[in-house]
Amino acid sequence: MAEFDFQGAYFDLAASEDRSVLRFVLSQALFGEATGVYCGRSLYAAESLEAAHFYVKQARQELNHLTLFADIFRELELTPEPAHWVIRLLAAHNDYYPLKVLMEHALGEGMVLDIFRDVLLQTLPETDVRVPAIKKKLRVICREEEEHVAWGEKETRRLLLERPGLKRPFYGLMELQLWLVPFAVQGLKQLAPEHPVLQKLDAFVEHVRERVWAQGRALGFAPERRPSVAARSLAIAAGLALLGRSQFARSRSKLDKRYLEELGFR
Ligand SMILES: [Fe+2]
Ligand SMILES: [Fe+2]
Repeated sequence: MAEFDFQGAYFDLAASEDRSVLRFVLSQALFGEATGVYCGRSLYAAESLEAAHFYVKQARQELNHLTLFADIFRELELTPEPAHWVIRLLAAHNDYYPLKVLMEHALGEGMVLDIFRDVLLQTLPETDVRVPAIKKKLRVICREEEEHVAWGEKETRRLLLERPGLKRPFYGLMELQLWLVPFAVQGLKQLAPEHPVLQKLDAFVEHVRERVWAQGRALGFAPERRPSVAARSLAIAAGLALLGRSQFARSRSKLDKRYLEELGFR
């Protein structure tokens, strides 16, 4: 899907109102990257050599993103603030692999990418001498986030083939994640309701919603048309039940049992 067009609206890095909006956005990014580093924990439960390679690489990349965002704060002379509760909720680590690949990689990092690529890369003003270097960092981050989303999508597809019963809870969880997004956006709009970038925020959220729906359909768990409220509620209940069960899922090591097959010795 084409990226959202902010039609030239941008942040003025000298205006205090604009700076407080950027501080909010960047603070969520910084927190998200800090939790991204947890993916190192997924190495323990990696089922294949491919997964182990991915998580080692991802942990290194997320650690680097964390440092790059800290550099951006310093370059713009901004101080991070605590993350919004929605972001804390969405960034919570899940040890249950099917939910991890769907909620963290495919959907979660997918939306992160929307914000980094569509919002930050478009609305930071090229006229500011600090911006070209910042955008260079952001482009590196976006390229790597694309890899993380691609991994999540690939694994989600594979898991749905093995366990088609996951389709309904996955759809319910997508509904839940989309339901949460406007809460995070609300706080942002209150910071500067008249700002040209924020005036486009509702349209941007709608764009993200459509993109996520298209992604869900392409992955095979979102229905062609949004179902009735009753069917939606059932899917959400199934999603919540899976989420509840996942809180008690303990990751077990796999590679120590499978390494001989994985290495081609058996
Ligand atoms: Fe990241
Ligand atoms: Fe990532």
